[in-house]
Amino acid sequence: MIPQAVIDEVRQAADIVDIIADYVTLQPSGRNYKALSPFTVEKTPSFVVSPDKQLYKCFSSGKGGNVFSFVMEMEKVPFIDALKLVAKRANIDISRFTEKKEQRTSPEEQSQTELLRWTAKFYHDTLGREAGAVGRTYLSTERGLSDQTINNFGLGYAPDAWDSLFTAAKRAGMAQEHLVELGLIAHNKQGSSCYDTFRNRVIFPIFSVGGQVVGFGGRILQSDPQAPKYLNSSESAIFEKSKLLYGLHAAKNEIRRQERAILVEGYMDVLALHQAGMTNAVASCGTSLTRYQAKVLHHYTKRVLFMYDADRAGQKSMMSGIDILLSENVTPSVVILPEGDDPDSFVRREGREHFLQFAEEKMLSFQEFQLRYFTESGDFAQSDVKARAIRSMAHTIALIPDRIRRELYLQELSKKLDLSLSALQELLGKEEDATEKKRASFEQRQEISAPRKPEPKLTVLEKTFLKALLESTNYGNAVLEFAASHEEMLELRHKEAQEIFAHLIRRYRNIGETPDARIDITSEISSFDNPESRDLASALLIDPPISNKWLEKSDVHADNAKRCLAMFLDAFKNLILEPLVHQKNVLTEKIRVENDTEQEIELSKEKIVLDKKIRQTSQELKKMITVILETS
Ligand code: GTP
Ligand code: MN
Repeated sequence: MIPQAVIDEVRQAADIVDIIADYVTLQPSGRNYKALSPFTVEKTPSFVVSPDKQLYKCFSSGKGGNVFSFVMEMEKVPFIDALKLVAKRANIDISRFTEKKEQRTSPEEQSQTELLRWTAKFYHDTLGREAGAVGRTYLSTERGLSDQTINNFGLGYAPDAWDSLFTAAKRAGMAQEHLVELGLIAHNKQGSSCYDTFRNRVIFPIFSVGGQVVGFGGRILQSDPQAPKYLNSSESAIFEKSKLLYGLHAAKNEIRRQERAILVEGYMDVLALHQAGMTNAVASCGTSLTRYQAKVLHHYTKRVLFMYDADRAGQKSMMSGIDILLSENVTPSVVILPEGDDPDSFVRREGREHFLQFAEEKMLSFQEFQLRYFTESGDFAQSDVKARAIRSMAHTIALIPDRIRRELYLQELSKKLDLSLSALQELLGKEEDATEKKRASFEQRQEISAPRKPEPKLTVLEKTFLKALLESTNYGNAVLEFAASHEEMLELRHKEAQEIFAHLIRRYRNIGETPDARIDITSEISSFDNPESRDLASALLIDPPISNKWLEKSDVHADNAKRCLAMFLDAFKNLILEPLVHQKNVLTEKIRVENDTEQEIELSKEKIVLDKKIRQTSQELKKMITVILETS
């Protein structure tokens, strides 16, 4: 167990805005920041980050939380790993708490991420040992990678043996079954033993945006028609190749700075470009570019430069990549490399200066590239194929979500093709109709995979009560103390609301003994049992106050504390009285419609009892509240 004080310290030292900005582009909006939600597909930003509260809330998916839950969500890691990542970012050393824990974990408790990290280290260490000499020679002599690049990207080597990882894992007490699940080792046919997946391959660990190892690629050393050039470890919830961009963890800042990413095809291309100082290069790991990857790129930049292999396959991939990027509001451009080259071979031969000069001189807009592509494939030779090519280019323009940009590109095209704008506009109109339909069905599909959760139906009173309870933790423990000693009087019917209420009381009782102990509410929401409760608490804390009374915030801390307490007590009183008043209203209505006199008398007696109960409760509560307000 890591002490709560340490968790609070890490949370307070890290700025949620900095950390979230690693993943999405934040725009200032009043006191807060806004962005397109990283959790769903959306066109208008509904993701809000509050620097004051150090919380975020996504109004389209309903998810909310603190810096830890954000990292857990984005990196798909358990709390402890999120804490470590945030601590590292905030330059706080928590190893004295975490390392002890790591020694104690039994194989069953080892998280996937721990195991992946251990494996990456094993391969990397092996590269440095005698057994790794062939791998080292391959990477440095044959592929020209420096030690620095090898270290920065954690490259490794899997020896030419059946069981080096298997044996090392066994010795280190790593869970064998987990390694099988990750696709790093496999059972032999008889099931009697296991063998390594990667043998005699150089290893490329694949990282998440936050720099966690999520999977591996392994390249064969000598080409062999019997074996695939590259192998990957198994895909899983944290390793989905279609969602990852190789090198993004190292490239993201430079992509932001230059407002441009270079998109290449292979691991080696990324490494060669980074080594030559083009540190804004990323690759889609051996899959064709997906909309998800385009969406990820859009979080960092609106401009992407394609540099795929100079073969027909590379050009075809760029053609479809262009459509995908434009659909996500990213503007692509293209550099066609000399025949037979890929970025790796080109930069190694020509060097950085020449590479940059070439890129600048040869850069094509996506339309210029398309024209070239069609011209070279002979499509412009005959008039009917020419028509098809033009339609295809209009189709590409129709994919651009922004209407004005569509119009601008259409004008360009009209000039380039020397065709009348009106003819192209008509063509675009047809393409737009078709695209609109496709877009609608795409978004529908996305909705199914990420269903919009309805905001929980809490009454205004319940919201006020909970918000006051949550915010009261900023002012000390007076509200919690009251809530704890009157807990049994109140049961909230809303599940998450009751959980928040009960959790805070439990926590108050735990810290009760320690004088001056405080609950750091922004950290605390990480320990709610149920993520929905965390979402709700984040929303309540971020939401503007429900009642105008809250707005009269004063600069005097004590005034605010008192107002918060008063709001809480008022809500508490009304929450207790509300069901009684409701009961009374129901009874009154029953009496009004009752025809049987005897029945009516019975009901009236009941009502008198109820009336008295309401009066008494109300008086008791008022008295209680006055005492509290006077003494605090
Ligand atoms: P080198 O030949 O080492 O320069 O590799 P490269 O990075 O230039 O690879 P290439 O252009 O042939 O392929 C691009 C990317 O596709 C690679 O980086 C891999 O991610 C992926 N890839 C290529 N071949 C295979 C394969 O046989 N299996 C798998 N799973 N992926 C592959
Ligand atoms: Mn290559």
